[in-house]
Amino acid sequence: MPRTAKPQFTYQHILEPGTDPAAPPLLLLHGTGGDEHDLLRLGRAISPGSALLSPRGDVNEGGALRFFARLSLNVFDPQEIIQRTHALADFVTQATAYHGLDARRLIAVGFSNGANIAATLMLLRPEALAGAVLLRSMVVLDQPAAPGSLAGKRALLCHGSTDPLVPADHPARLEALLRAGGAETRLETIPASHALTPQDVDRARTWLGQA
Ligand code: MLT
Repeated sequence: MPRTAKPQFTYQHILEPGTDPAAPPLLLLHGTGGDEHDLLRLGRAISPGSALLSPRGDVNEGGALRFFARLSLNVFDPQEIIQRTHALADFVTQATAYHGLDARRLIAVGFSNGANIAATLMLLRPEALAGAVLLRSMVVLDQPAAPGSLAGKRALLCHGSTDPLVPADHPARLEALLRAGGAETRLETIPASHALTPQDVDRARTWLGQA
């Protein structure tokens, strides 16, 4: 049940209430061209019973929604990423309070562009998340987490071995940026391209169950 007066939300979003109080709430962050409906099925598959908070990316790239702008393929403006990351973190604070979610246990589950902003949330606003499942993520902000800022937090990175979009060295580099803050990380290489596979679902479910 909402606990505060309805705020003016900065992101259109879906909230599916949880049915199992032991299951952590999930923040679902879709990829380029997706929307807030995209990852609901994935969220239910990897953590049945979790509350699902799923915002819609507010950057429009020729009709494809994203969470931050892209200047060209894999070229970004760091200042814009920082600004969008803080905006999303502020929304998360607002939405978790309003919807009565336990923000201290919130796990982001992001795919592609959504995974990239989940990673920058961890780097820049570590208080916003308890952890993240980063599916096909890359380094978009080459900045290590502040020492100790991610102590007690976890991240699972699922990389596709034949992913043509994510440069091969990026998953390990991103893992190192998160580890600099003290995060407990796991990097899984899946025999896959950029699209998600049943193996991603299995790895994410297993990792969540180990919390
Ligand atoms: C995408 O297509 O979304 C890229 O792989 C990642 C990004 O642009 O953030």
